Amino acid sequence: MLFDPKPKERRRDLFDRDDELNRLKLGLNYPITLLLGIRRSGKSSLIKVLMSEEGDAIWVYLDLRKYEGSPYMTYRHLLSEFEKALNSWQEGLRRLIHGIRGVTLSGPGFEVRFNWGRDRVMFGDLLDKLSDISEREGRRVIIVFDESQELRKLKGYNIIYPLAYAYDNLKLNFIFTGSQIGMVYRFLKLKDPNSPLFGRAMFEVHVNPFTREQSIEFLRAGFREIGISPVGEDMLEDVYDELGGIPGWLTYYGFNYMQFRSHEEAIKRTLEYAIQLIRQEFENFLKGREEARERYYAIMSLCKSGCLWSGVKRFLEAREGYRIDDKKVTELLQNLVDASFLTKENEMYKPSDPLIAKAF
Ligand SMILES: Nc1ncnc2c1ncn2[C@@H]1O[C@H](COP(=O)(O)OP(=O)(O)OP(=O)(O)O)[C@@H](O)[C@H]1O
Ligand SMILES: [Mg+2]
Repeated sequence: MLFDPKPKERRRDLFDRDDELNRLKLGLNYPITLLLGIRRSGKSSLIKVLMSEEGDAIWVYLDLRKYEGSPYMTYRHLLSEFEKALNSWQEGLRRLIHGIRGVTLSGPGFEVRFNWGRDRVMFGDLLDKLSDISEREGRRVIIVFDESQELRKLKGYNIIYPLAYAYDNLKLNFIFTGSQIGMVYRFLKLKDPNSPLFGRAMFEVHVNPFTREQSIEFLRAGFREIGISPVGEDMLEDVYDELGGIPGWLTYYGFNYMQFRSHEEAIKRTLEYAIQLIRQEFENFLKGREEARERYYAIMSLCKSGCLWSGVKRFLEAREGYRIDDKKVTELLQNLVDASFLTKENEMYKPSDPLIAKAF
């Protein structure tokens, strides 16, 4: 159902993303695919539909969203996500995971257990094994890091080295998704000649918000599906004017409309929910950046309807009463762009989603 607020799992529930899905399938011919799109644009839905359509592949799906609120991630966190993903495999497949140092299969159900002592699992060994399994079974093994920018926070372990090794030598596919688009690029360091992934080609798929036409068609289709006729075309236009074209917000609107049968109520609830969530996400962004907290808030409220670098500099200086280094201003803005709170078009910075503007 289109207005179901959970990530979609079947193609028939996914509105107008055939191109993106086909491109993702094409991407499976390359070692690494990036699936990029701002929050609630529909990345996880695309992955889930891809997983259901590529059932012959062996999937390792790692949901890193939960680390968004923590200042760092550890090696152990990473591996425990892997352990969980492997335990979601069917028993027949799990049985193939033997002979890796630090990994045991226990009990009658062949539960995968990782050791954490001296004999701990090496990430590289795990990748080697998965590649062997792929060769032996004649099936693709696809490892998905959903919200991969969180891997930037990995402390004491550089995952880029094993990834580069896997890129060059193993028979594995990786998909990295990211809402904080610039942070994904920063994490992969593709343009840094000192980085092991330097110059490696990656297949990119971008998921954009719906256009006005698509958004209205999405709402029409959703209403048709639940057998409610919307009050009028004006109302659909109004939804787009208020909420923009992000599938997640449109879905949430439809979900509320279904319950309350009132356009105003559905808009109100969607706005409340969106603003609360965006503020929470902004707080997460500020973790580890506490010293610049006031500045980030000031910039977001200044840039609500667009701003220029020079305007930001003047504004911050006027607020604080002393000179601020040019580099610092650039860095603050760049962090906001990389985390997809702002976008930069020509020289203008503006919120990447109309509801972000409303949240500040
Ligand atoms: N093409 C689509 N058709 C129908 N519903 C969609 C579509 N894309 C996304 N949605 C809905 O929008 C919401 C957000 O989708 P999803 O969780 O897949 O996005 P995401 O990009 O992974 O978001 P997040 O940044 O929160 O992880 C869900 O309710 C999902 O059902
Ligand atoms: Mg997601």
